[in-house]
Amino acid sequence: MHNGVIENYSDLKRELEERGHVFRSETDTEAIAHLIEEHYDGDLLAAVNATLSHLQGSYALLVIMEDTERIIAARNASPIVLGVGDSEFFAASDLTPLLDYTERVIYLDDGDVADITPDRLDIYHEGQKVERPVELVNWCVEDTRKGGFDHYMLKEIFEQPQSFYETIRAGVDEGVRRMLMDAGEITLVACGTSYHTTLVFKYLAESLCNIPIRIEMGSEFKYFTGPLRGLVIAVSQSGETTDTIAALNMAKARNCPTLAITNVQGSTLTRVADRTLLMRAGPEIGVAATKSYTAQLAALIQIINLRCEGMFNDILSHAHLAIGDILLYDVEDAVALCSQADHAFFIGRGPFYPVAMEGALKMKEISYVHAEGYAAGELKHGPFALLTPETPVIAICAPGSTYNVMVSNVKEVKARRAPVIALGVEGDTELPEIADIFIPIPDTHLLVQVLTASVVLQLLAYHTACALGRDVDRPRNLAKSVTVE
Ligand code: G6P
Repeated sequence: MHNGVIENYSDLKRELEERGHVFRSETDTEAIAHLIEEHYDGDLLAAVNATLSHLQGSYALLVIMEDTERIIAARNASPIVLGVGDSEFFAASDLTPLLDYTERVIYLDDGDVADITPDRLDIYHEGQKVERPVELVNWCVEDTRKGGFDHYMLKEIFEQPQSFYETIRAGVDEGVRRMLMDAGEITLVACGTSYHTTLVFKYLAESLCNIPIRIEMGSEFKYFTGPLRGLVIAVSQSGETTDTIAALNMAKARNCPTLAITNVQGSTLTRVADRTLLMRAGPEIGVAATKSYTAQLAALIQIINLRCEGMFNDILSHAHLAIGDILLYDVEDAVALCSQADHAFFIGRGPFYPVAMEGALKMKEISYVHAEGYAAGELKHGPFALLTPETPVIAICAPGSTYNVMVSNVKEVKARRAPVIALGVEGDTELPEIADIFIPIPDTHLLVQVLTASVVLQLLAYHTACALGRDVDRPRNLAKSVTVE
Protein backbone atom coordinates (compact mmCIF):
# COMPACT_ATOMS: atom_id res chain seq x y z
CA MET A 1 0.00 0.00 0.00
CA HIS A 2 1.34 3.38 -0.90
CA ASN A 3 0.08 6.88 -0.20
CA GLY A 4 2.02 9.67 -1.85
CA VAL A 5 3.77 10.34 -5.13
CA ILE A 6 7.03 8.81 -6.36
CA GLU A 7 8.49 11.66 -8.38
CA ASN A 8 11.22 9.68 -10.15
CA TYR A 9 8.75 6.97 -11.11
CA SER A 10 9.29 7.29 -14.89
CA ASP A 11 13.06 6.82 -14.56
CA LEU A 12 12.61 3.91 -12.17
CA LYS A 13 10.09 2.26 -14.48
CA ARG A 14 12.33 2.62 -17.54
CA GLU A 15 15.32 1.14 -15.68
CA LEU A 16 13.23 -1.71 -14.27
CA GLU A 17 11.78 -2.53 -17.69
CA GLU A 18 15.27 -2.55 -19.17
CA ARG A 19 16.12 -5.14 -16.55
CA GLY A 20 13.15 -7.28 -17.61
CA HIS A 21 10.40 -6.26 -15.19
CA VAL A 22 6.92 -6.26 -16.68
CA PHE A 23 4.55 -3.56 -15.38
CA ARG A 24 0.87 -4.33 -15.02
CA SER A 25 -0.35 -0.87 -14.17
CA GLU A 26 0.37 2.80 -14.73
CA THR A 27 0.86 3.50 -11.03
CA ASP A 28 4.02 4.85 -9.48
CA THR A 29 3.42 2.41 -6.62
CA GLU A 30 4.14 -0.56 -8.84
CA ALA A 31 7.75 0.56 -9.28
CA ILE A 32 8.19 0.13 -5.51
CA ALA A 33 6.96 -3.46 -5.65
CA HIS A 34 9.40 -4.32 -8.47
CA LEU A 35 12.29 -2.72 -6.61
CA ILE A 36 11.48 -4.71 -3.48
CA GLU A 37 11.33 -7.88 -5.56
CA GLU A 38 14.73 -7.07 -7.01
CA HIS A 39 16.32 -6.42 -3.64
CA TYR A 40 14.67 -9.31 -1.82
CA ASP A 41 17.10 -11.89 -0.62
CA GLY A 42 15.14 -13.55 2.19
CA ASP A 43 14.88 -10.43 4.37
CA LEU A 44 11.91 -8.12 3.73
CA LEU A 45 13.21 -5.33 5.98
CA ALA A 46 16.53 -5.21 4.13
CA ALA A 47 14.74 -5.27 0.77
CA VAL A 48 12.50 -2.34 1.75
CA ASN A 49 15.44 -0.36 3.13
CA ALA A 50 17.38 -0.89 -0.07
CA THR A 51 14.32 0.14 -2.10
CA LEU A 52 13.80 3.37 -0.16
CA SER A 53 17.20 4.65 -1.21
CA HIS A 54 15.95 4.73 -4.83
CA LEU A 55 12.73 6.62 -4.11
CA GLN A 56 12.25 10.34 -4.52
CA GLY A 57 8.96 11.89 -3.44
CA SER A 58 6.48 11.15 -0.72
CA TYR A 59 5.39 7.84 0.65
CA ALA A 60 3.51 6.19 3.44
CA LEU A 61 4.36 2.64 2.60
CA LEU A 62 3.10 -0.64 4.03
CA VAL A 63 4.73 -3.75 2.62
CA ILE A 64 3.46 -7.23 3.32
CA MET A 65 4.55 -10.51 1.78
CA GLU A 66 2.09 -13.20 0.91
CA ASP A 67 1.59 -15.76 3.68
CA THR A 68 3.58 -13.84 6.26
CA GLU A 69 2.49 -11.96 9.36
CA ARG A 70 4.93 -9.13 9.02
CA ILE A 71 4.48 -5.60 7.76
CA ILE A 72 7.25 -3.17 6.97
CA ALA A 73 6.06 0.43 7.21
CA ALA A 74 8.04 3.40 5.92
CA ARG A 75 7.23 7.06 5.95
CA ASN A 76 8.43 10.11 4.09
CA ALA A 77 6.26 13.26 3.85
CA SER A 78 3.06 11.25 4.05
CA PRO A 79 1.63 10.29 7.43
CA ILE A 80 1.49 6.88 9.10
CA VAL A 81 -0.02 6.26 12.51
CA LEU A 82 0.44 2.90 14.19
CA GLY A 83 -2.20 1.57 16.58
CA VAL A 84 -1.03 -0.51 19.52
CA GLY A 85 -3.39 -3.33 20.54
CA ASP A 86 -2.99 -6.49 22.62
CA SER A 87 -0.67 -8.71 20.62
CA GLU A 88 -1.60 -6.81 17.51
CA PHE A 89 -0.69 -3.61 15.73
CA PHE A 90 -2.51 -1.50 13.18
CA ALA A 91 -1.31 0.96 10.60
CA ALA A 92 -3.26 3.75 8.96
CA SER A 93 -2.72 7.11 7.36
CA ASP A 94 -4.64 8.87 10.10
CA LEU A 95 -6.13 8.32 13.51
CA THR A 96 -9.79 7.87 12.72
CA PRO A 97 -9.81 4.28 11.42
CA LEU A 98 -7.72 3.16 14.39
CA LEU A 99 -10.27 4.31 16.96
CA ASP A 100 -12.34 1.17 16.38
CA TYR A 101 -9.46 -0.92 17.69
CA THR A 102 -7.33 1.02 20.11
CA GLU A 103 -6.70 4.34 21.82
CA ARG A 104 -2.93 3.88 21.93
CA VAL A 105 -1.01 5.17 18.95
CA ILE A 106 2.51 5.80 17.74
CA TYR A 107 3.22 8.50 15.17
CA LEU A 108 6.04 7.65 12.80
CA ASP A 109 8.45 10.43 11.84
CA ASP A 110 9.71 11.12 8.35
CA GLY A 111 12.47 8.64 7.59
CA ASP A 112 11.19 6.02 10.04
CA VAL A 113 10.93 2.37 9.03
CA ALA A 114 8.88 0.05 11.24
CA ASP A 115 9.13 -3.72 11.34
CA ILE A 116 5.78 -4.99 12.60
CA THR A 117 4.77 -8.50 13.62
CA PRO A 118 1.76 -9.37 15.83
CA ASP A 119 3.76 -9.25 19.05
CA ARG A 120 6.71 -7.04 18.21
CA LEU A 121 7.35 -3.59 16.86
CA ASP A 122 10.81 -2.27 16.01
CA ILE A 123 11.29 1.20 14.61
CA TYR A 124 14.45 2.31 12.81
CA HIS A 125 15.64 5.72 11.75
CA GLU A 126 18.68 6.01 9.47
CA GLY A 127 19.48 2.39 10.28
CA GLN A 128 19.43 2.91 14.06
CA LYS A 129 16.77 1.45 16.31
CA VAL A 130 14.70 4.23 17.91
CA GLU A 131 11.88 4.50 20.44
CA ARG A 132 8.75 6.45 19.58
CA PRO A 133 6.35 7.21 22.42
CA VAL A 134 2.96 5.54 22.68
CA GLU A 135 0.36 8.30 22.96
CA LEU A 136 -3.22 8.17 24.15
CA VAL A 137 -5.76 9.51 21.68
CA ASN A 138 -8.12 12.21 22.94
CA TRP A 139 -10.96 11.09 20.62
CA CYS A 140 -13.32 8.20 21.16
CA VAL A 141 -14.88 5.81 18.70
CA GLU A 142 -18.42 7.18 19.22
CA ASP A 143 -17.17 10.43 17.69
CA THR A 144 -16.62 8.57 14.44
CA ARG A 145 -20.21 7.24 14.15
CA LYS A 146 -23.04 8.96 12.34
CA GLY A 147 -25.12 9.00 15.52
CA GLY A 148 -28.49 8.79 13.77
CA PHE A 149 -27.77 11.51 11.20
CA ASP A 150 -28.09 10.80 7.48
CA HIS A 151 -24.60 12.06 6.82
CA TYR A 152 -21.44 12.80 8.73
CA MET A 153 -21.57 16.31 7.35
CA LEU A 154 -24.95 17.03 8.95
CA LYS A 155 -23.82 15.49 12.22
CA GLU A 156 -20.71 17.64 12.13
CA ILE A 157 -22.74 20.77 11.35
CA PHE A 158 -24.82 19.99 14.42
CA GLU A 159 -21.74 19.44 16.56
CA GLN A 160 -20.56 22.99 15.99
CA PRO A 161 -21.93 24.58 19.16
CA GLN A 162 -20.01 21.98 21.13
CA SER A 163 -16.78 22.09 19.15
CA PHE A 164 -16.78 25.87 19.23
CA TYR A 165 -17.44 25.92 22.97
CA GLU A 166 -14.83 23.24 23.71
CA THR A 167 -12.19 25.07 21.71
CA ILE A 168 -12.88 28.30 23.56
CA ARG A 169 -12.98 26.49 26.89
CA ALA A 170 -9.63 24.78 26.30
CA GLY A 171 -8.02 28.21 25.92
CA VAL A 172 -4.32 28.51 25.16
CA ASP A 173 -1.39 27.37 27.25
CA GLU A 174 1.13 29.80 28.68
CA GLY A 175 3.76 29.18 25.99
CA VAL A 176 1.28 29.85 23.18
CA ARG A 177 -0.08 32.87 25.02
CA ARG A 178 3.35 34.40 25.33
CA MET A 179 4.13 33.67 21.71
CA LEU A 180 0.92 35.42 20.61
CA MET A 181 1.34 38.38 22.91
CA ASP A 182 4.97 38.90 21.83
CA ALA A 183 4.25 38.64 18.12
CA GLY A 184 4.88 41.78 16.10
CA GLU A 185 4.11 40.73 12.57
CA ILE A 186 1.85 37.73 12.11
CA THR A 187 1.59 35.64 8.94
CA LEU A 188 -0.94 32.82 8.55
CA VAL A 189 -0.63 30.02 6.01
CA ALA A 190 -3.39 27.57 5.13
CA CYS A 191 -5.23 25.82 2.28
CA GLY A 192 -8.87 25.29 1.32
CA THR A 193 -11.44 26.01 3.99
CA SER A 194 -8.67 26.72 6.49
CA TYR A 195 -7.44 29.46 4.16
CA HIS A 196 -10.89 31.04 4.26
CA THR A 197 -10.81 30.93 8.05
CA THR A 198 -7.55 32.82 8.08
CA LEU A 199 -9.01 35.48 5.76
CA VAL A 200 -11.98 35.96 8.10
CA PHE A 201 -9.48 36.30 10.93
CA LYS A 202 -7.49 38.94 9.08
CA TYR A 203 -10.54 41.16 8.65
CA LEU A 204 -11.60 40.71 12.27
CA ALA A 205 -8.14 41.12 13.80
CA GLU A 206 -7.30 44.20 11.76
CA SER A 207 -10.62 45.91 12.39
CA LEU A 208 -11.21 44.92 16.02
CA CYS A 209 -7.72 45.18 17.45
CA ASN A 210 -5.56 46.77 14.82
CA ILE A 211 -3.13 43.86 14.42
CA PRO A 212 -1.69 43.77 10.88
CA ILE A 213 -2.04 40.26 9.49
CA ARG A 214 -0.59 38.67 6.37
CA ILE A 215 -2.34 35.67 4.85
CA GLU A 216 -0.72 33.21 2.45
CA MET A 217 -2.00 30.18 0.61
CA GLY A 218 0.18 27.20 1.47
CA SER A 219 0.54 26.12 -2.15
CA GLU A 220 1.77 29.54 -3.28
CA PHE A 221 3.89 30.42 -0.28
CA LYS A 222 6.33 27.58 -0.86
CA TYR A 223 7.42 29.05 -4.18
CA PHE A 224 6.78 32.76 -3.64
CA THR A 225 7.65 33.40 -0.05
CA GLY A 226 8.74 37.03 -0.16
CA PRO A 227 10.24 38.77 2.84
CA LEU A 228 9.17 37.08 6.03
CA ARG A 229 9.41 38.22 9.63
CA GLY A 230 7.59 37.54 12.86
CA LEU A 231 5.29 34.77 13.95
CA VAL A 232 4.05 32.30 11.33
CA ILE A 233 0.88 30.39 12.12
CA ALA A 234 -0.16 27.37 10.05
CA VAL A 235 -3.86 26.54 10.20
CA SER A 236 -4.97 23.07 9.17
CA GLN A 237 -7.76 20.76 10.30
CA SER A 238 -5.78 17.60 9.57
CA GLY A 239 -2.30 18.93 10.29
CA GLU A 240 -1.24 16.87 7.26
CA THR A 241 -1.78 19.13 4.26
CA THR A 242 1.51 18.96 2.39
CA ASP A 243 1.47 22.54 1.14
CA THR A 244 0.76 23.94 4.59
CA ILE A 245 3.52 21.82 6.13
CA ALA A 246 5.94 22.94 3.41
CA ALA A 247 5.03 26.57 4.11
CA LEU A 248 5.69 26.12 7.81
CA ASN A 249 9.03 24.49 7.05
CA MET A 250 9.92 27.53 4.94
CA ALA A 251 9.09 29.76 7.89
CA LYS A 252 11.31 27.68 10.15
CA ALA A 253 14.12 27.91 7.66
CA ARG A 254 13.79 31.71 7.92
CA ASN A 255 14.06 31.43 11.72
CA CYS A 256 10.50 32.59 12.34
CA PRO A 257 8.73 31.33 15.45
CA THR A 258 5.97 28.93 14.36
CA LEU A 259 2.58 27.93 15.72
CA ALA A 260 0.27 25.19 14.45
CA ILE A 261 -3.49 25.50 14.84
CA THR A 262 -4.86 22.07 14.11
CA ASN A 263 -7.49 19.56 15.10
CA VAL A 264 -5.27 16.50 15.17
CA GLN A 265 -3.02 15.84 18.08
CA GLY A 266 0.27 14.28 16.94
CA SER A 267 -0.20 15.31 13.32
CA THR A 268 2.85 16.28 11.27
CA LEU A 269 2.19 19.98 11.66
CA THR A 270 2.30 19.69 15.45
CA ARG A 271 5.72 18.15 15.17
CA VAL A 272 7.06 20.74 12.78
CA ALA A 273 5.77 23.80 14.64
CA ASP A 274 7.40 25.24 17.75
CA ARG A 275 4.04 25.23 19.51
CA THR A 276 0.50 23.99 18.94
CA LEU A 277 -2.92 25.37 19.66
CA LEU A 278 -5.23 22.39 19.44
CA MET A 279 -8.80 22.88 18.22
CA ARG A 280 -11.34 20.67 19.98
CA ALA A 281 -13.58 19.70 17.09
CA GLY A 282 -13.16 15.93 17.46
CA PRO A 283 -12.81 13.76 14.35
CA GLU A 284 -14.24 15.30 11.20
CA ILE A 285 -15.12 12.65 8.66
CA GLY A 286 -17.21 14.42 6.00
CA VAL A 287 -14.83 15.63 3.30
CA ALA A 288 -16.34 19.12 3.43
CA ALA A 289 -14.96 20.94 6.46
CA THR A 290 -17.69 22.30 8.75
CA LYS A 291 -17.07 21.95 12.46
CA SER A 292 -13.35 22.33 11.96
CA TYR A 293 -14.02 25.67 10.25
CA THR A 294 -15.93 27.07 13.22
CA ALA A 295 -13.46 25.54 15.68
CA GLN A 296 -10.63 27.21 13.77
CA LEU A 297 -12.52 30.46 14.05
CA ALA A 298 -12.87 29.81 17.78
CA ALA A 299 -9.10 29.38 18.07
CA LEU A 300 -8.38 32.45 15.96
CA ILE A 301 -10.95 34.67 17.64
CA GLN A 302 -9.30 33.72 20.91
CA ILE A 303 -6.11 35.26 19.61
CA ILE A 304 -8.03 38.49 18.97
CA ASN A 305 -9.52 38.29 22.43
CA LEU A 306 -6.11 37.74 24.00
CA ARG A 307 -4.60 40.67 22.18
CA CYS A 308 -7.60 42.80 23.20
CA GLU A 309 -7.13 41.84 26.85
CA GLY A 310 -10.26 39.75 27.13
CA MET A 311 -12.58 42.37 25.67
CA PHE A 312 -14.68 39.68 23.99
CA ASN A 313 -14.84 37.17 26.83
CA ASP A 314 -18.55 37.51 27.27
CA ILE A 315 -19.33 37.27 23.57
CA LEU A 316 -17.17 34.19 23.17
CA SER A 317 -18.69 32.38 26.11
CA HIS A 318 -22.16 32.70 24.54
CA ALA A 319 -21.39 32.37 20.83
CA HIS A 320 -22.10 28.62 20.79
CA LEU A 321 -25.71 29.32 21.78
CA ALA A 322 -26.19 31.51 18.72
CA ILE A 323 -24.71 28.79 16.52
CA GLY A 324 -27.16 26.33 18.10
CA ASP A 325 -30.09 28.58 17.23
CA ILE A 326 -29.19 28.47 13.55
CA LEU A 327 -29.08 24.70 13.21
CA LEU A 328 -32.79 24.19 12.71
CA TYR A 329 -33.18 27.00 10.21
CA ASP A 330 -35.45 26.29 7.32
CA VAL A 331 -33.56 27.02 4.11
CA GLU A 332 -35.96 25.07 1.89
CA ASP A 333 -36.85 27.95 -0.46
CA ALA A 334 -33.22 28.86 -0.97
CA VAL A 335 -32.40 25.19 -1.60
CA ALA A 336 -35.14 25.00 -4.22
CA LEU A 337 -33.53 27.94 -6.02
CA CYS A 338 -29.95 26.69 -5.78
CA SER A 339 -30.71 23.12 -6.77
CA GLN A 340 -32.17 24.39 -10.07
CA ALA A 341 -29.07 26.45 -10.83
CA ASP A 342 -25.90 25.64 -12.72
CA HIS A 343 -24.10 28.68 -11.35
CA ALA A 344 -24.39 30.76 -8.19
CA PHE A 345 -22.54 33.72 -6.74
CA PHE A 346 -21.94 34.36 -3.07
CA ILE A 347 -21.15 37.95 -2.14
CA GLY A 348 -20.19 39.82 1.00
CA ARG A 349 -17.94 42.58 2.24
CA GLY A 350 -15.28 42.70 4.94
CA PRO A 351 -15.17 39.44 6.92
CA PHE A 352 -18.29 38.34 5.06
CA TYR A 353 -16.33 38.23 1.83
CA PRO A 354 -14.32 35.16 2.94
CA VAL A 355 -17.53 33.84 4.55
CA ALA A 356 -19.04 34.10 1.04
CA MET A 357 -15.99 32.36 -0.44
CA GLU A 358 -16.43 29.54 2.03
CA GLY A 359 -20.17 29.34 1.28
CA ALA A 360 -19.35 29.03 -2.43
CA LEU A 361 -16.69 26.41 -1.75
CA LYS A 362 -19.15 24.33 0.29
CA MET A 363 -21.74 24.65 -2.46
CA LYS A 364 -19.46 23.60 -5.29
CA GLU A 365 -17.65 20.81 -3.49
CA ILE A 366 -20.68 18.86 -2.34
CA SER A 367 -23.54 19.87 -4.67
CA TYR A 368 -21.41 20.39 -7.84
CA VAL A 369 -23.35 23.60 -8.52
CA HIS A 370 -20.69 25.95 -9.81
CA ALA A 371 -20.38 28.70 -7.21
CA GLU A 372 -17.99 31.61 -6.77
CA GLY A 373 -17.43 33.81 -3.76
CA TYR A 374 -16.92 37.47 -4.59
CA ALA A 375 -16.28 40.69 -2.75
CA ALA A 376 -19.64 42.33 -3.45
CA GLY A 377 -18.08 45.38 -5.09
CA GLU A 378 -16.23 43.20 -7.61
CA LEU A 379 -19.33 41.62 -9.09
CA LYS A 380 -19.72 44.48 -11.52
CA HIS A 381 -16.18 43.94 -12.85
CA GLY A 382 -17.05 40.87 -14.86
CA PRO A 383 -19.46 38.47 -13.21
CA PHE A 384 -22.40 40.79 -14.01
CA ALA A 385 -22.11 39.42 -17.53
CA LEU A 386 -23.07 36.02 -16.20
CA LEU A 387 -26.16 37.05 -14.24
CA THR A 388 -29.42 35.57 -15.52
CA PRO A 389 -32.76 34.66 -13.93
CA GLU A 390 -31.21 31.22 -13.38
CA THR A 391 -28.15 32.48 -11.48
CA PRO A 392 -28.92 32.93 -7.79
CA VAL A 393 -26.84 35.45 -5.88
CA ILE A 394 -26.47 34.81 -2.17
CA ALA A 395 -25.76 38.15 -0.49
CA ILE A 396 -24.63 38.48 3.11
CA CYS A 397 -25.84 41.89 4.26
CA ALA A 398 -24.70 42.36 7.84
CA PRO A 399 -25.46 45.57 9.68
CA GLY A 400 -22.73 48.15 9.99
CA SER A 401 -20.78 50.37 7.66
CA THR A 402 -21.24 48.13 4.60
CA TYR A 403 -24.98 47.51 4.99
CA ASN A 404 -26.17 50.31 2.70
CA VAL A 405 -23.72 49.50 -0.04
CA MET A 406 -24.69 45.81 0.18
CA VAL A 407 -28.33 46.81 -0.24
CA SER A 408 -27.32 48.77 -3.36
CA ASN A 409 -25.47 45.71 -4.63
CA VAL A 410 -28.56 43.58 -4.11
CA LYS A 411 -30.59 46.09 -6.11
CA GLU A 412 -28.00 46.06 -8.90
CA VAL A 413 -28.20 42.28 -9.03
CA LYS A 414 -32.00 42.38 -9.07
CA ALA A 415 -31.88 44.91 -11.91
CA ARG A 416 -30.01 42.24 -13.91
CA ARG A 417 -32.89 39.84 -13.17
CA ALA A 418 -30.88 37.43 -11.05
CA PRO A 419 -32.70 36.06 -7.99
CA VAL A 420 -31.27 37.11 -4.64
CA ILE A 421 -31.10 35.14 -1.42
CA ALA A 422 -30.22 37.72 1.22
CA LEU A 423 -28.87 37.00 4.68
CA GLY A 424 -29.53 39.87 7.06
CA VAL A 425 -30.30 40.33 10.71
CA GLU A 426 -33.67 39.65 12.29
CA GLY A 427 -35.90 42.71 12.16
CA ASP A 428 -34.45 44.01 8.88
CA THR A 429 -37.38 45.47 6.97
CA GLU A 430 -35.62 46.50 3.77
CA LEU A 431 -34.05 43.25 2.61
CA PRO A 432 -37.25 41.15 2.72
CA GLU A 433 -38.73 43.73 0.33
CA ILE A 434 -36.01 43.62 -2.30
CA ALA A 435 -34.64 40.08 -2.05
CA ASP A 436 -36.45 37.03 -3.41
CA ILE A 437 -35.65 35.09 -0.27
CA PHE A 438 -34.64 36.60 3.05
CA ILE A 439 -32.85 34.50 5.67
CA PRO A 440 -32.70 36.28 9.04
CA ILE A 441 -29.77 35.63 11.35
CA PRO A 442 -29.70 36.79 14.99
CA ASP A 443 -28.70 40.40 15.54
CA THR A 444 -25.51 39.77 17.50
CA HIS A 445 -21.91 40.97 17.65
CA LEU A 446 -19.89 40.85 14.42
CA LEU A 447 -17.77 38.01 15.83
CA VAL A 448 -20.89 35.89 16.17
CA GLN A 449 -22.46 36.97 12.89
CA VAL A 450 -19.55 35.53 10.90
CA LEU A 451 -20.24 32.21 12.61
CA THR A 452 -24.01 32.17 12.19
CA ALA A 453 -23.86 33.32 8.56
CA SER A 454 -21.33 30.57 7.83
CA VAL A 455 -23.55 27.92 9.38
CA VAL A 456 -26.53 29.05 7.28
CA LEU A 457 -24.39 28.66 4.16
CA GLN A 458 -23.26 25.20 5.27
CA LEU A 459 -26.92 24.18 5.64
CA LEU A 460 -27.73 25.65 2.24
CA ALA A 461 -24.94 23.66 0.58
CA TYR A 462 -25.80 20.49 2.48
CA HIS A 463 -29.51 20.51 1.66
CA THR A 464 -28.86 21.51 -1.95
CA ALA A 465 -26.48 18.57 -2.31
CA CYS A 466 -29.08 16.25 -0.75
CA ALA A 467 -31.81 17.59 -3.06
CA LEU A 468 -29.54 16.80 -6.01
CA GLY A 469 -28.80 13.31 -4.69
CA ARG A 470 -25.07 13.88 -4.28
CA ASP A 471 -22.71 11.76 -2.22
CA VAL A 472 -22.44 14.45 0.46
CA ASP A 473 -19.76 12.90 2.64
CA ARG A 474 -17.56 11.75 -0.22
CA PRO A 475 -17.80 14.21 -3.08
CA ARG A 476 -16.23 13.11 -6.34
CA ASN A 477 -12.52 13.69 -6.91
CA LEU A 478 -11.90 15.20 -3.47
CA ALA A 479 -9.92 13.99 -0.48
CA LYS A 480 -10.29 14.90 3.16
CA SER A 481 -6.60 15.27 3.62
CA VAL A 482 -4.36 16.33 0.75
CA THR A 483 -0.94 14.87 1.40
CA VAL A 484 0.47 15.53 -2.05
CA GLU A 485 1.61 18.77 -3.61
C1 G6P B 1 -8.89 19.34 1.48
C2 G6P B 1 -10.26 19.23 2.14
C3 G6P B 1 -10.75 20.62 2.53
C4 G6P B 1 -9.72 21.30 3.42
C5 G6P B 1 -8.35 21.37 2.75
C6 G6P B 1 -7.28 21.82 3.72
O1 G6P B 1 -9.02 19.98 0.26
O2 G6P B 1 -11.18 18.63 1.27
O3 G6P B 1 -11.98 20.50 3.24
O4 G6P B 1 -10.15 22.59 3.73
O5 G6P B 1 -7.97 20.06 2.31
O6 G6P B 1 -7.18 20.87 4.75
P1 G6P B 1 -6.58 21.13 6.18
O7 G6P B 1 -6.61 19.78 6.84
O8 G6P B 1 -5.18 21.63 5.98
O9 G6P B 1 -7.43 22.12 6.86
